[in-house]
Amino acid sequence: LDWKKLLAIGEKPKLFSPGDQEIWTDPYIGEHIVFAHLEPEEDDGTRMEGHVLQEVQFWVNRLGSNIRFLDLGCGPGIYLRLLAQEGWNCWGYDYNPWAIAYAKDLEGEEKLGIHYELKDIKKGQWERGFDAVAMIYGGMGVFSPEDRKLIAAQIDQSLKPGGCFFCDVFNEHYLKQQGEIPSWYVQKEEGFWSEKPHLVLPQVFEYPEYRALCRQFTVLEEELTKTYRLWYQALGLEDLQELFPASRYKIEVLDDLRGQRRKKNLGWSGYWVSKIS
Ligand SMILES: C[S@@+](CC[C@H](N)C(=O)[O-])C[C@H]1O[C@@H](n2cnc3c(N)ncnc32)[C@H](O)[C@@H]1O
Repeated sequence: LDWKKLLAIGEKPKLFSPGDQEIWTDPYIGEHIVFAHLEPEEDDGTRMEGHVLQEVQFWVNRLGSNIRFLDLGCGPGIYLRLLAQEGWNCWGYDYNPWAIAYAKDLEGEEKLGIHYELKDIKKGQWERGFDAVAMIYGGMGVFSPEDRKLIAAQIDQSLKPGGCFFCDVFNEHYLKQQGEIPSWYVQKEEGFWSEKPHLVLPQVFEYPEYRALCRQFTVLEEELTKTYRLWYQALGLEDLQELFPASRYKIEVLDDLRGQRRKKNLGWSGYWVSKIS
């Protein structure tokens, strides 16, 4: 047991500091999470199928066909396949190698014309000239403010004038829901965190002044102690306005990316950001 490391888990991590490994690129979790995305009735990696279909319908009704589109954090390409079938010219970036490999294999069979690229969107250059760019299922709220700024600058360069960026983000209600601390548990067989018998110690750290929260999971195996950190930051209109200034962008607030008004706040907000110039 790495005793020093275990003692350190009592300390509140510095805001947005990484754990030992991100779940999406972890050699075990990253591969298995692809199957979670593909489950139509589960919302672990991707929203449930009915919800996805309503979103896609809304975007296609709004933008029409023949749209050059980039999906940031596209996973195994669930949205891109549906949009390509609607006539969109689709591009997807993701840094999970198993998700991109799965998506490319399927594209090899289906030949929908989707371009997938294994890419960490915090780094490197992106393709340009898009009519629409999207980050679906909370992506904007998991990055540090500095990384989010870099990503927004890339979105700006990738969009044509008149193009749009749409995303759904966590709001403060979501953070309240996530604030509950799950109990520790023993997993004797393969589970979400490891294929070997292991013990999971979950913790939650709150950063109310930043409207942020960290869910930390320490996983103990026979000869290994690993810590994973999932970060969530609630974003509001003012945060989006800072990234996409009013001199060049018009921002529309939606309840979610299905474009419908809802009475109940579900913890999510949708934003449709149109680039004027
Ligand atoms: C919650 S999932 C959503 C997947 C997809 N947007 C959907 O709704 O089906 C987040 C995705 O973002 C990807 N991701 C997270 N950080 C990333 C980064 N820095 N660069 C590229 N992809 C990233 C993950 O690998 C994962 O596929």
